[in-house]
Amino acid sequence: MSDGTFDDAFVDDLDRLFRWRRDVRRFSREPLESHLLPEILEAAELSPSVGNSQPWRWVEVQTKAAREAVRDSFVRCNAEALDGYTGERAQLYSSLKLAGLDDAPVHLAVFCEPDVDQGHGLGRHTVPETLEYSVVTAITTLWLAARARGVGIGWVSILEPNEVAAALAVPPTWKLVGYLCIGYPERENDVPELERVGWQSRTDSEKRHLIR
Ligand SMILES: Cc1cc2nc3c(=O)[nH]c(=O)nc-3n(C[C@H](O)[C@H](O)[C@H](O)COP(=O)(O)O)c2cc1C
Repeated sequence: MSDGTFDDAFVDDLDRLFRWRRDVRRFSREPLESHLLPEILEAAELSPSVGNSQPWRWVEVQTKAAREAVRDSFVRCNAEALDGYTGERAQLYSSLKLAGLDDAPVHLAVFCEPDVDQGHGLGRHTVPETLEYSVVTAITTLWLAARARGVGIGWVSILEPNEVAAALAVPPTWKLVGYLCIGYPERENDVPELERVGWQSRTDSEKRHLIR
């Protein structure tokens, strides 16, 4: 509603959005309708940030060379990660699909600008990490805004951040926070893929809620 209040139907829909947001690794190769990426980026720009610093920087990765460099980094890091597991876990790991890099039509590298003037340092003297936390809030908004429009996002962290930064020739101080594959999902699901394949289920939320 335009006055800033939200009715019960909206709240129910929002809860449904939270339940159906997924990390997507299996994408259709269909290009995104052109209005969608600008729209979801605009929504993400409304995210909270320490001191209102807005330290997120979005880099759309389009060139073949840059995408290949990112893919190479993923392949190498994924092989190294597999080496860290043994037995059944290793078998299960090697069966996981952990990135949609080959199919997702849009790749977005999200960086934190640590030397941002905006915000005048407010709030980050005590907890400097709040700048990076702010970028994560923006990614979360992006994720939900995308899902509400039928667009899937998959977060790829099995990458060497320095290799990604070099491939994209960003300023040396920028820190990679997330590499996102974006596109139409092959299918929707209300259960995380890692739960469906037996890697890790959601657990009892009460154990994570303490009262002191
Ligand atoms: C910071 C972060 C990094 C992640 N990195 C990866 C990744 O490298 N590969 C992957 O397949 N999923 C990655 N994910 C997605 C998680 O696996 C996923 O969020 C989790 O399994 C729960 O599933 P859901 O997002 O569908 O609820 C990442 C998620 C977050 C928040």
